[in-house]
Order: sequence, then C-alpha cells, then structure tokens
Amino acid sequence: MMKTFYIETYGCQMNVVDSEIVASILIRNGLIQTYNPQDADIILLNTCSIRENAEMRIKSRIKQLGSFKKTNPNLRLGIIGCMAENLKEKLFVELPQLDLLAGPDVYRLLPEILKQINDENKIINTTLSKEETYADVLPFRYDSNGISAYVSIMRGCDNFCSYCVVPYTRGRERSRDASSIINEVLSLSENGFKEITLLGQNVNSYHYRDIDFPALISLLAKNFPNLLFRFTTSHPKDLSIELIEAMASFPNIAKSIHLPVQSGSNEVLKRMNRKYTRDDYLEKVYLLRRLIPDITISTDIICGFCGETEEDHLQTIDLMKEVNYFFAFMFKYNERPNTLAAKKYADDVTDDIKSRRLKEIIDLQQKISYMLNKQDIGKIFKVLVEGISKKNEKEIFGRNSQNKVIVFAGDLTQKGQFVDVEVTNCTSATLIGRQNFDK
Ligand code: 5AD
Ligand code: SF4
Repeated sequence: MMKTFYIETYGCQMNVVDSEIVASILIRNGLIQTYNPQDADIILLNTCSIRENAEMRIKSRIKQLGSFKKTNPNLRLGIIGCMAENLKEKLFVELPQLDLLAGPDVYRLLPEILKQINDENKIINTTLSKEETYADVLPFRYDSNGISAYVSIMRGCDNFCSYCVVPYTRGRERSRDASSIINEVLSLSENGFKEITLLGQNVNSYHYRDIDFPALISLLAKNFPNLLFRFTTSHPKDLSIELIEAMASFPNIAKSIHLPVQSGSNEVLKRMNRKYTRDDYLEKVYLLRRLIPDITISTDIICGFCGETEEDHLQTIDLMKEVNYFFAFMFKYNERPNTLAAKKYADDVTDDIKSRRLKEIIDLQQKISYMLNKQDIGKIFKVLVEGISKKNEKEIFGRNSQNKVIVFAGDLTQKGQFVDVEVTNCTSATLIGRQNFDK
C-alpha cells in the first residue's frame, strides 16, 4: 500500500518553498500527497518559531490533528522545520501525539525516517548542515497559482540580530549553486510561470563562487526577459549600489524592495545588533529613490524592544514618515529563548505599552499607505493578472511592478498576462482600476 502524506505550512515564504521541497522528496520516493488531513497516513506541519504565538497556534493544531489517531491508529504526526529545531525533544514531552521531529536540513532523510517510525519508536533529527541547499530538488509547487513561484537561492542566516531565533533554527548561511537556480528558473519559464521571487533570509549576501546577488539577478533578468523578478529579504547593511543599479536598469526587475528597518532609533538598532544606523538606512533609501524614482519600499518594524523609550518609539514614527513605506509588517517584541537579547537585556517594556505603540505605528502606516495609494489614482500600470478577486467574482486582481495589488473588472482568460490598468480609486490596502481607458 502506498502511503499518503499531508503538509500544512506556517510562517515565512521560505517555509512555503521548503514544503514544496518536502513534497517533491516524498513523491519521488513513492508517497502520495493528499490535501485532506483526514485521508493522510502521515501529517507534517512545517513550522515557524519567530514569535511565541506562532508556536502556540501550531501546538494546538497538533492536539487537534492528534485526535485523528483514534480513527486511524497508523497515522504518523510530525513537526518539521524551525519549531522542531528550536524546541527539540521537549516537544515529544509536551505533545505525546507526535511521532517525528525533523529540522530544516534533514528533509532528504524523511523517506527513510518515516519508514523507521513505529508505535515504540519516535524519531528526532535536528542536525543542521553547512552545505545543504536542496539545489537538485525541483520543488513540487502543489499550491501554486501557476503564475508566481518562489525560488530559494540561499538558506540560513549569519546575522544574529539579537531578538531573532532564525540563525539557531535555520543554521549557517549558505548560497545555492547558481547554475541550479538558472535551471530551475528555466523550467518555471517553460511551464508558463511569469513571476519569480528569489528567496533567502538575506539575499543581499548571496555569494556563489564569483557570483554575488547583483550579478545573479542581472544574469536572470537578461536571460529571461519575459519573466518579472522580485526578491526578499534584503538586510539594509548589505544593500549595495550594484543591486540598486541592476534594479534601475532592468525593466523586468520589480521596482519594489522589502527593507526591514526594525527601529528608527540608533540605540535600539545597536542593541538589536542590526549593524547600521538610522542615517545609514536613510542614505540607502535616498539612493534607491534617486536611482529608481517610482520604487516602493516596504519594511518590518518591531516595537517595544528591550529598553525602548518613548523617545526611541517617536524616532521610529518619525522614520516611517520620512521613508513613506507603502506597506509594513509590524510586531510587538517577543522574547525568544536563547537569543542574544534574551541573555543580555531585560524585556522591560510592558505589554500595555507595546500594544499602544504597536497601535500607533499601525494607524500611522495605514494613513501613509492610503496617502500613497491616492497618489496613484490616474496612473497607468502594467499588472500581472493572478486570478479572480476574493471579494467579487466579476473582478480579477494582480500586482504591478511596485508590488501593489490592483483589482479591476475582467475574467480568467487574462490570468498570467501583463495588462495595462488605470487606477481609478483606492483603499489603504488596494488599488482599484479599469482596463478600458482612453490611451
Ligand atoms: N519578536 C518580534 N518580532 C520579531 N521578528 C523576528 N524576531 C522577532 C521577535 N523576537 C520580526 C522581524 C523580522 C520579521 C521576519 O519578524 O521584524 O524582520
Ligand atoms: Fe533574523 Fe536578522 Fe537573520 Fe533576519 S537578518 S533572519 S531578523 S537574524
């Protein structure tokens, strides 16, 4: 009997690709993927540890899925990815329903590991690797819209921002063989994909032999003129003039960058171990805007980090007004065990203050997003159509080069096409447009 597996993915885009890699490895080894956990012999949750509430949610999901064992005693339940790496055996104690814990660098071994599990034998493997990039595994894009794909170009992180658990859960930074990246992009292009997002914890430090990130993305943009390239994430300290020039010179590199600032205060940035100052950051923003006038910038912000004063918070507010992000992910600081911040600094901003500061930055961001969207009214953009709008089935949606979502009347025959759309209205989150306008 062939075994069926079901995967559920939590967390970042890296995890989306990792689940596609796991699916590919399991299918290659004769397992069958199912999209209904009730039909599965093996359930894997690919997990995230970035904040505690992600871990809590996943733990309660395991308890829920564990109840399927009553009707299917042969069901195997596994946690893979960051949480397995972060919490290790402790998870077996807390969640006796679990049979398997596998870290992000052992996915090749999963077919073997799954064979070894039985009622008496739970398995844990959280070995991290300095080399594994899964370069030769073609991800099975089971949940894809067939238009946009993520391509992982590196794994791990060496930055050790003091609040962050990722360097511990994903291990050391390593770049993937450039020729395997090109081959994967070629195969995506042949299969009708139109938009590729190059992924890594810090793509700006990509380095394979003599190819750095600006060289890699230029090579791809030149060789695949019909594909649109995006990338994420960029650590501000490693954003180079060469990358900005590449973005400016290739029309098929998107005019949008995710540049996590985390805080607008130099003291906080220092304690966060971010290795840039507010001025360093702003200088890069000015350079981006000078060389790419129509660029949009998005960011991540943490409020209430250890020792953050009201003055520090106001510096973040002030920086947000200076940069005018079109979009931001905003979080309350959440202490993660074993990180540098947990060891060195007290988590001394009260939850009430964190909540109030978070609300202030979210409210401000909403105003800025709305203000910037209003400035787009009357402009015409090329939009890559991704599918039917969630709110209205007579409308389709896509994103422009600036990574803004635009909704407009149309039908699925245009899916995967780049169409011209005029913006006629907006909310703070979405542009609203029309296709038939006087050119
Ligand atoms: N608490 C809150 N937010 C965090 N992030 C990373 N670690 C933490 C933490 N301990 C945020 C950062 C990062 C994003 C992916 O998650 O803003 O850029
Ligand atoms: Fe975490 Fe910093 Fe690495 Fe991003 S760059 S994954 S925030 S340690």
